[in-house]
Amino acid sequence: MHTTSGRPGRRQALAALAVAALAAGGTVAVSNPPAIAAESTLRAAAAKAGLFFGVAASPGRLGPIVAQEFSQLTPENDMKPDSIATSSGGLRNTGNADTLVNHAQSNGMLVRGHTLVWHSQAGQLQGASQATLNTFIGNAITRWGSRIAYWDVVNEAFDDNNTGRRRTQWPHSLSRDANGDGDYVDSGDTDVIRESFRRAKEVVRQNNLSTKLCINDYDVEGLTVGGGGRNNKAQALYDVVRAYTQGSEKLIDCVGFQSHFNDNPNSVITADLQANIQRFADLGVEVHLTEVDIDDDLSGNDIGQGQADNYRKVVRACLNVAGCTGITVWGIADSESWRSSERGLLFTGGNGDYQKKAAYHAVLDELNKGRSGSSSGSPSVPVSPSIPVSPSVPVSPSTSTGTAGCTATVSVDSWTGGFVATVRVTAGSSAITGWRVTAALPAGAGVTGSWNTERSGTSGTVQFANVGYNGRIAAGQATEFGFQGTGTAAGATFACAAA
Ligand code: XIL
Repeated sequence: MHTTSGRPGRRQALAALAVAALAAGGTVAVSNPPAIAAESTLRAAAAKAGLFFGVAASPGRLGPIVAQEFSQLTPENDMKPDSIATSSGGLRNTGNADTLVNHAQSNGMLVRGHTLVWHSQAGQLQGASQATLNTFIGNAITRWGSRIAYWDVVNEAFDDNNTGRRRTQWPHSLSRDANGDGDYVDSGDTDVIRESFRRAKEVVRQNNLSTKLCINDYDVEGLTVGGGGRNNKAQALYDVVRAYTQGSEKLIDCVGFQSHFNDNPNSVITADLQANIQRFADLGVEVHLTEVDIDDDLSGNDIGQGQADNYRKVVRACLNVAGCTGITVWGIADSESWRSSERGLLFTGGNGDYQKKAAYHAVLDELNKGRSGSSSGSPSVPVSPSIPVSPSVPVSPSTSTGTAGCTATVSVDSWTGGFVATVRVTAGSSAITGWRVTAALPAGAGVTGSWNTERSGTSGTVQFANVGYNGRIAAGQATEFGFQGTGTAAGATFACAAA
């Protein structure tokens, strides 16, 4: 049994009672089942909460634990181009991938295909043209069809070190920013991300598949990075997902945050993880935490309660966002991890003989609390940043109605020293073609980033105007934009005017 620090919550107390009775050899007549019937596996607890809980594996790791604990499987290496692609975009050597897909299917597990377009482990595809990449995309998607629930179409498209730029090495050398304005979405531009998703979407449509198409990356988990600066890589990913979901083409269905958390400042767990998951989910895509491992360095070499608490925070952030529909850990046991020295997974042991870590019990407990779980049962877990606090922040009451055809309503997630505001702009009884929201922020508040809006100003009176794709709102309909700030939003007022 795992221990928790602080006063035990009700569930812990019940469990302790049962264990004490058993230890004393007594028989306990249980006429009424406990009020909370906790599930005893990750997959069952996750299913109850409405998400999948998965694992990355290779055929050699398909012991009983995989199907017992996990409801989704990602081939750790066996669907990468270096494993299965020929230089002309054909398929070869698909046996290991087949083994994994078959195992998943016969155990009721979803499969995430991983991955089609990637600069690393490209094998014979290294340096290929977009046409060859498209051939490979078509072959791989049709090979397994709807047996693959989610495909990572593009993996790791953005640069390291928080530059906010695309990578420049192949396959990104296939992209062209023709007018040099920093994006790849104009008519003269080409974009390997867009072209690859277009091809993938076409194949899905032509074959009537249920497969969803994802973009996946790391160091994109928080709105901010360690030290509080903006997470430019997350913003760059957000801009791409927005461009390819909110425009005329809906190319991207899901976003993977790899979630390899460690003590690199760009890879730490920040308090705004949930807010970042939320803003992607608000674009109408599913969000998944796809390759979770949490370095023991983040808890001072503690793979007990410290690491367990980190896992709680991450799982809770996902659970608190309805659009976060799956969590996948990148391996079963620490010793078998690609980063074994970080001891970042849920089990110790190896070779089929596994022992649950404190982190395992924490994840199970958090999943058992479900989507609406709160921190009340776990005093040792500082999850306050990820709890929606809008009722306690006096922003909504001061929301004001615009005079000319729109209203702005605001919800705020706040934590000590910062907040994220989501502003909903609703058209009145007539359609509008543009809008401007004027925010009067309290002294000390400063805006550090915004999305779905053109902003002027960072403090005091700040203007937020529509951007190209969200100015037109039909009568009674709404759109949302958001911003992040330091300080507090308490006392802010917002006025909306149609432009
Ligand atoms: C890793 C595997 O775990 C290793 O076995 C392999 O040697 C290298 O790749 N991001 C990804 C994964 O998208 O495919 C990587 O997997 C880890 C980082």
